[in-house]
Amino acid sequence: MEKIVILTGAGISAESGLGTFRDVGGIWSQHDLADVATPKGFAKDPALVHAFYNARRENCLAAAPNAAHRALAALEAARPGRVTIVTQNIDDLHERGGSQAVIHMHGELLRALCGTCGHRWEAPREMGVDTPCPACGAHHARPDVVWFGEYPYHMERIEALLAKADLFVSIGTSGTVYPAAGFVAEAAAHGAQTLEMTLDTSEVAPLFDEARPGPATETVPAWVQSLL
Ligand code: APR
Repeated sequence: MEKIVILTGAGISAESGLGTFRDVGGIWSQHDLADVATPKGFAKDPALVHAFYNARRENCLAAAPNAAHRALAALEAARPGRVTIVTQNIDDLHERGGSQAVIHMHGELLRALCGTCGHRWEAPREMGVDTPCPACGAHHARPDVVWFGEYPYHMERIEALLAKADLFVSIGTSGTVYPAAGFVAEAAAHGAQTLEMTLDTSEVAPLFDEARPGPATETVPAWVQSLL
């Protein structure tokens, strides 16, 4: 049976109430990403960066998975071992929607990382400059998320999945941030069919074989239904 790799972005969580980045009124229109999503910004003002992610963590904990997250979980349940989600999202809505094979290439809001010893642990609801590392005791904790200028996580695993995919599906991402924006070309070069499901269109739209535009809570369940 075919192997499916699904790339998701902020658009899949939009209808759960989590803001996207580049839509009108999006997160990057309210905050300067250089201040809150770069190593330099964190070095300059860690308290500001913690406040930004604390607020996003609160939103995430208050949000619930939507019909698109649940449909992808149903697809995985029907085809165990054949469906992998590679998400750019740092929320945990795929997991709470029931998906198990989820790769967080941009890290996870609910995890913390020690800048001194590299230990990772479950993030407290509120993190701050005084949050100690449970392993080494240093006060150098950061959210375990990938900032601009840092390498995304799990790239070797993702490349291997893209090379073997029969179908590559991109959901709710603007196709502006690499390397994720390059996955469609990579999967296609290895012979995968490609499908895009985003609200309108993306920067890499011409590279897809097929597009199913619209809100994810409508397009994704309908697509899953068509496969099952
Ligand atoms: N259903 C489907 N797609 C939607 C919906 C919806 N309800 N609402 C918005 N979208 C689409 C938009 O049309 C847009 O194409 O989701 C996309 C969101 O794009 P971005 O805001 O750029 O988010 P994303 O592509 O995930 O951003 C990539 O940039 O700053 C970062 O690290 C951050 O992981 C993020 C990365």
